[in-house]
Amino acid sequence: MTNPTTGQQPANASAKERIAMRSMSLAQRVGKWLGFDISRSVYRYAKDKRFGHISESRVADKWTKTTCGYCSVGCGMLIGTRDGRPVAARGNPEHPVNLGKLCPKGLSEHLIVEAPGRATTPMLRKGGRGTPLEPVSWDEALDAMIARIGALQVRHGNEALGVIGTGQLLTEEFYTLGKLVQLGFRTRNYDGNTTLCMASAVSGYKLSFGSDGPPGAYADLETADVVLLVGSNLADNHPILCNRLRKKPGQVLIVADPRVTKTAMMADLHLPVKPRSDIALLNGIAHILLRDQLVHRDYLRDHVDGLDDFVRFVTEFTPEAVSEVTGLSVETIETVASIYGRAKAAFIGWTMGVNHSTQGAVTVAAINNLALLTGNIGRVGASPFSITGQCNAMGTRESGFASSMPGYRKFDNANDREELASLWDIEESELPSARGLAYPDIIEAAVTGKVKALWIIATNPIVSFPNYNLLKQAFDTAEFVVVQDGFYPTPTMEFADLVLPAAIWGEKEGTYTNSERRISKVNSFATPPGEARSDFDIFMALAEGLGVKDKLFPGWTTTHSAWLEWQKVSAGRLCDYSPFTWQQIEDQGGAQWGGARLYEDGVFPREGGRALLHCVPCLPFVEQPNREFDLILNTGRTVEHWHTRTKTGAVAMLEGMVPNAWLEMNPVDAQRLSLRQHDPVTIRSRRASITQVELRVTEIVAPGQVFMPFHFAEQNSNLVTLGAFDPISREPNFKQCAVRVERSTLN
Ligand code: SF4
Ligand code: MOS
Repeated sequence: MTNPTTGQQPANASAKERIAMRSMSLAQRVGKWLGFDISRSVYRYAKDKRFGHISESRVADKWTKTTCGYCSVGCGMLIGTRDGRPVAARGNPEHPVNLGKLCPKGLSEHLIVEAPGRATTPMLRKGGRGTPLEPVSWDEALDAMIARIGALQVRHGNEALGVIGTGQLLTEEFYTLGKLVQLGFRTRNYDGNTTLCMASAVSGYKLSFGSDGPPGAYADLETADVVLLVGSNLADNHPILCNRLRKKPGQVLIVADPRVTKTAMMADLHLPVKPRSDIALLNGIAHILLRDQLVHRDYLRDHVDGLDDFVRFVTEFTPEAVSEVTGLSVETIETVASIYGRAKAAFIGWTMGVNHSTQGAVTVAAINNLALLTGNIGRVGASPFSITGQCNAMGTRESGFASSMPGYRKFDNANDREELASLWDIEESELPSARGLAYPDIIEAAVTGKVKALWIIATNPIVSFPNYNLLKQAFDTAEFVVVQDGFYPTPTMEFADLVLPAAIWGEKEGTYTNSERRISKVNSFATPPGEARSDFDIFMALAEGLGVKDKLFPGWTTTHSAWLEWQKVSAGRLCDYSPFTWQQIEDQGGAQWGGARLYEDGVFPREGGRALLHCVPCLPFVEQPNREFDLILNTGRTVEHWHTRTKTGAVAMLEGMVPNAWLEMNPVDAQRLSLRQHDPVTIRSRRASITQVELRVTEIVAPGQVFMPFHFAEQNSNLVTLGAFDPISREPNFKQCAVRVERSTLN
């Protein structure tokens, strides 16, 4: 094998040649079958070897250490380049997160920087809406942006600008952007697409512990006696974390999910709960823990408030009542509670099945309740643990200045304000006194005309936001829309007045922070195409244009300047980045802020230092099925794609594996509706319909439910999803809406 660090080939070339020849025919066959072109370079390489012209076009001459730019697992990788062009991606065998493994997205990620469809030049709709986007210079683009937004702010107030960010940038860029938006553009109306994903986890942590911050570590997945996953399909969404499961002899894996996901198939015990009955299950477990004295009395006495109210509250969640709501048998509920309650170390992980709900934040609190009742927090193997989505959703939560001030500082805390103002050498009154509008409220404000300008950065709401019709109205009503992205065109750019071409992963240097709070180094191995610039450089140019560069970013030249300031700003906070240098982070395969686990001492960042139990009622989800819309649609993801496919749709290998959306339906419903395997179907909700979706008749979904992946603009699940949001976190209820399904007519 090639040495991953030096790129050197073994001396025994004939054996290698045989391997190359074998992979040639296999690659050719697979390539031909899937209709794409992985075969060609392998074939050419093998042919050259055979005939003695050694081009070795795919053999790296340099390996760059970096971190995967897709999901929040945060795998360490090595990108091989030859003559400056990417030729290979490998897992970094020394990186503690993945020990050399990568999923299909990571393995093909090097291809993204040279993929088709990159944005290469700024584009302006010079003649206004209805005219085409035309290439313009950076000066013209940024002047237009500052002038148009400035004019709207003069007429309608500073908060007429709404900014929607992402979890895709570097932490250094998030830190910079937050300052630029809040103190440069002087609007509070800034939020990220992370609200579509993890806002409920953030809010739930704040409810229970007083601060955001996932308490556990991936290592806990290996050391827990019990791992309970709630609404989390690791096998598709965080595949490399599956390697941590079932390593410990006797570990019990319990998966609560309405669907028999790939993760549910790995479980010792799958709990096929009815949609949105997780709260009842969690309260029911708490009921049994209290009834059977399986709670940790000392921990509760020393570290937890709210026990008396909670005990009264959960009396009604008897196993019988919970069985009714969840569809699980009384015996199953008793078994799960007993396994969880008797574990020496129990871990509860969750993802979007919990967060994507109008009750997301309080469901997180209900999960935290179980950990607090049993003292399963702050110990090896014991934690409640949100498994985040995007590669750097954590970075924006910590440094981004959207739902809290940098370093998890609270807008309404006098000490926090004073401290931050003095660190930045500004008047305290310059800091906003409360958070601005959250993502869905920015969209609604654009519909009602309160927000007049939108700046969308590295996200694609046209595919990812629920209730497409409302969103379209927002874009149509807004007077000036800027879309900054690494790709052109994206579906959202149809609504852009200005497009700013940005560098992407692989072209920038800085850090990402993963789900276990591990800060990992991200390095560049390629230069941005055409005139594309890094997001950081775009922010600096805008700061210059606004005349705030010297005040907000004095002497800053690169993302490292932002890193150094962020280290100072985060020093002494829960998310303290100050102990590590970039070099240390790179050499060690990342470092976890806060250490391996938070709250080891049982002291929580709430007033009084104690955590809080919450009484969480279980309410039926918003849009119940009826006779006309008789099925519950659930949405989710597949391992081959990333979110709205801006990146993975451009990687032939991934796109070839999963080229289109599908709808899963139980055979019982398919028979009732006279639908057959692979029929093209139409999915209708009260809002809109999606046509020509391939039907998969499968017992993976229960009768009465259907499932569809949300990655596809062409068959966009968010045409039909509901525009309902969690009142606390403002996260959308993507997971359940009522639909009906029929065979598509030919068109
Ligand atoms: Fe990248 Fe996530 Fe796959 Fe790891 S598991 S390679 S971080 S997409
Ligand atoms: Mo999320 S997909 O962690 O923003």
